Amino acid sequence: MSAATGSGTGGRKPLAAFVADAATEAHVRRVTAALAWADADVISATPAEAVKRLASSPTPARLLIDLSGSVDPLADLELIADVCDQETPLIAIGTVNDVDLYRKLLAAGVDDYLVKPVASETLAAALTALGAAGADKEDKASREPLGRLVAVIGARGGVGSTTVAVNTAWLLAHDLNLKTALVDLDLYFGTCALALDVEPGRGFRLALESPGRIDNLFLERVMVRISDLFYLLAAENDLEFYHTVDRDTLREALHVLVQTIRRNFKITVFDLPRHAARTQVSLLTPPASLVLVSDPSLAGLRDTIRLAKMLKHLAPEAELSVVLDRCGEIKGAELAQKEFEQDGTIKVSSVIPFEAKPTVASTAAGKPLVCVATRSRTARVLKDLAVRLSGTDEAVARPSSLVRLMRWGS
Ligand SMILES: Nc1ncnc2c1ncn2[C@@H]1O[C@H](COP(=O)(O)OP(=O)(O)OP(=O)(O)O)[C@@H](O)[C@H]1O
Ligand SMILES: [Mg+2]
Repeated sequence: MSAATGSGTGGRKPLAAFVADAATEAHVRRVTAALAWADADVISATPAEAVKRLASSPTPARLLIDLSGSVDPLADLELIADVCDQETPLIAIGTVNDVDLYRKLLAAGVDDYLVKPVASETLAAALTALGAAGADKEDKASREPLGRLVAVIGARGGVGSTTVAVNTAWLLAHDLNLKTALVDLDLYFGTCALALDVEPGRGFRLALESPGRIDNLFLERVMVRISDLFYLLAAENDLEFYHTVDRDTLREALHVLVQTIRRNFKITVFDLPRHAARTQVSLLTPPASLVLVSDPSLAGLRDTIRLAKMLKHLAPEAELSVVLDRCGEIKGAELAQKEFEQDGTIKVSSVIPFEAKPTVASTAAGKPLVCVATRSRTARVLKDLAVRLSGTDEAVARPSSLVRLMRWGS
């Protein structure tokens, strides 16, 4: 993990924000702290005062102008444009929610207009999405393709979602040779660390409490290294944490984490509990895939349909696939794949059989099933799934069998 956080400075300040009031100033400061932009300027000033300041200082990598108090926003923007580089990306914020104004601002060269109050994640996403003009080599990381994100969500408890997340992540790293992160977003009851037989450490909790600390170095320190290509971020927080952690801080931290991790890993697999999917799935901006795991039960079908509908609404750009696990466990009481697909809203992409023997071997070894029972039917299905999720051509990414055998044997 050597890439810079990509604040877009290129020797310049990552951001100059001129805001209309103290509350907005505090809010923008929190967002810049979460982005680890320590040298961002956040100043309460009118657009006219902003012009004066900008005229006498180097142009920052990005500009944020609060037009709340402006009588003539377009004229103010023109004056600001006169004292900045033509190419400087600019976000305007304001209180007027009017499409006509929005269009005029875009035509005047504004990159985005956000209506106050602006949610922290929205502002952070808008700021980080702006390509910093004239960025030098330091910014290379922010221009490189973002790593793929995969969220694995169980339609019900105990259906096998962690098994799918851990095993596909392992395969992505060791079979497909992609630098992979596994992030357990079940902050209290997560079992990814248990499945890999490692201690999760306190790093994830520290990150969630203080988003301002999250950067590449921090990640490098707190992620558990499973192998050169495979890292884990997990927590086993005590239940008190739920009541003490501030919701806004948590959201900000997750946003910064996702952005920072995807700059450092080709692919990140999230074990995402269904109760958190509603609030967290929108963090997974493209390229992203969602995997809904269910058992072949009636209740599983009901909840898969409900969750699929919600996920398509919240993350319309993410590819959604449905995986049936534990198939054949209770023969006679299960729905067939075609019954799952009957109403036309769901297409099952993988069917994993219930297999006790490989599961017992995996638990006993403290290693993923695909690592200890490579030839099992379950492993074969999971390998196909991993290839599909990788977004790569298996033939290119797959290392030789010999290399794989040596790795798995170690
Ligand atoms: N195909 C399978 N065959 C046999 N056992 C399985 C299979 N898939 C999962 N299991 C077992 O089922 C149990 C639940 O699996 P897992 O923990 O992956 O589910 P989960 O959806 O993550 O559960 P939770 O809701 O607790 O997070 C585990 O003991 C796991 O080993
Ligand atoms: Mg689980």
